[in-house]
Amino acid sequence: MSKNDEIGKAFDFGLFRRVFTYTKPYMVIFWVVTFAAILSAAFAILTPVLVRDIINEALANKDNDQLIFIILVMLGALFGQVICQLSFNYFANLLGESVIKDIRVKLFERMMSFKMTYFDNSSIGVLVTRAVADMQRIGEIFSQGFFVIVADFLKMLSGAAIMLYINWKLAVIVFAILPVILIATRLFQQAMKVAFIEVRAQVANLNSFVQERIAGMKIVQLFNREEIEKEKFRKINEKHQNAWLKTVWYNSIFFPIAEISYSIGIGLVVYFGVIQNIENVALNDTGSIFAFFFLMDLLFRPLRQIADKFNTLQMGMVAANRVFKILDTDSHISDTGTLEKSDVKGNIQFTDVHFSYVQDEEVLHGISFEVKAGETVAIVGATGAGKSTIINLLNRFYEIDSGEILVDGHDIRDYSLKSLRSQIAIVLQDVFLFADSIANNISLRDETVTLDQMETAAKQIGVHDFISSLPEGYQYNVKERGTMLSSGQRQLIAFLRAYVSNPSILILDEATSSVDTYSEQLIQQATDKITEGRTSIIIAHRLATIKKADKIIVMDAGQIVEIGTHQELLKNGGYYSDLYEAQFLAEEVA
Ligand SMILES: Nc1ncnc2c1ncn2[C@@H]1O[C@H](COP(=O)(O)OP(=O)(O)OP(=O)(O)O)[C@@H](O)[C@H]1O
Ligand SMILES: [Mg+2]
Repeated sequence: MSKNDEIGKAFDFGLFRRVFTYTKPYMVIFWVVTFAAILSAAFAILTPVLVRDIINEALANKDNDQLIFIILVMLGALFGQVICQLSFNYFANLLGESVIKDIRVKLFERMMSFKMTYFDNSSIGVLVTRAVADMQRIGEIFSQGFFVIVADFLKMLSGAAIMLYINWKLAVIVFAILPVILIATRLFQQAMKVAFIEVRAQVANLNSFVQERIAGMKIVQLFNREEIEKEKFRKINEKHQNAWLKTVWYNSIFFPIAEISYSIGIGLVVYFGVIQNIENVALNDTGSIFAFFFLMDLLFRPLRQIADKFNTLQMGMVAANRVFKILDTDSHISDTGTLEKSDVKGNIQFTDVHFSYVQDEEVLHGISFEVKAGETVAIVGATGAGKSTIINLLNRFYEIDSGEILVDGHDIRDYSLKSLRSQIAIVLQDVFLFADSIANNISLRDETVTLDQMETAAKQIGVHDFISSLPEGYQYNVKERGTMLSSGQRQLIAFLRAYVSNPSILILDEATSSVDTYSEQLIQQATDKITEGRTSIIIAHRLATIKKADKIIVMDAGQIVEIGTHQELLKNGGYYSDLYEAQFLAEEVA
């Protein structure tokens, strides 16, 4: 559905109702807002009537007591109106913020249960927009859209009713101008709707451009692309500016039209009001003329802004529609398994596993192998052979097309996801660290993991000295994606993270990027330690790791071509010995 379709369709009451179901837990606030709106309208119409009475009664009768009485009532009404307005604003916003807080948490919770395929096919920027900017728009349905429109309508209706009540002839004159404003408002609203969509599209463009360039600043500077990027940015900015100027232009036309109609209305009321009083001296109703000034303000002021409010409402509905679409996405990992095992031995068996990330593009073509409990197995093969894919399947990031994966003789789908994943620790090829302290990156905020435990573990795998040497040791904040550390250091932290979780099965996807000799040694030492006494699968790029493995699985183009020990495979003279000669021989001689 294109943006224009989304916004173009008539008001969607089903969607509206769905948004409002989220107010259920906040019914008290809901009613406070509603009553504040009604009372505020009541107070608003009281003032004009009192003004009329001051002029027609107190002034005409020169009655001082009456004057003071009316003024006191008027003050009371004003005070009441201020209180109502204040409560209205506060509670309408509170309701909006409460609702979006709930939807946002629900959305995030939902996202965390999605399959990896969902994220493969979604843009980060779009998902972030849904969780942040679109949410704000949904909140505005309550704080600036719906309730304000209802309150304004109440004011306008009661204002119009009072006009008819105090002087119907003048009221008819005022109503005669209304169509002009109504038509102008309608045209304005439609134009603004289109303009706003354009503005939002351009804001999204700006966002994604800036976000991507900042992330890729190294490339921009390295390849001297500053001028080109500046030029591109200037163009996007220009479009953004033009889109904004359009809204400014519409505003500049609409508001004077509204203002002129209003002034003409005032003029007509004064003229006919005075004529009425001249033609019929006994009428004695100059007070109505003044009352009408207030009442017209009550009628015209909301009218001028109602187009904006409708747009806010509409934008909120578009945002809600997009957010609900994510909430309704059925992309969950099925978690129907009931097996809960805390003492998995770690026997792993793949039988004729076929798998494709994208339909009809098979990546693994019948993989079969077994890793016995306690064994260390190395997987080697060219880039793109499907090594990382194997571990993506074992922890159920993705579902296999056919075949079987067993852990301790049970299909991995029979385990509950939580139980399965708590048995497997994985060090991914690209280590991800959060913008947090080293300690929190190791424990991932699991409070049962103490600092003492972390330090002991760090000492065991030989990384304690390195961590202690950092400015604040375990409390050192590594910043976004761990930029404060080198890639080798990041890996050591990831090792420690895996080691501390003490899994039955350890999977290590060695990074292809080379690290310095010192880090290399540390990593090697850590690897030896964390694989000790548990089932380990290492996707290996280092000869030392490979040679120590109990078994080497050699992969090529989504298939296993050889399985054996280092010596056996060399003797075979097959794919592995070619690989060895091409990649590792030099390393070994050196
Ligand atoms: N998320 C994904 N969506 C679609 N295709 C993917 C995805 N991840 C990997 N592939 C494809 O699957 C194939 C195997 O990728 P895999 O990551 O398993 O290779 P690898 O053996 O780990 O390579 P490397 O040694 O470079 O890490 C590749 O052809 C790749 O293009
Ligand atoms: Mg890989």
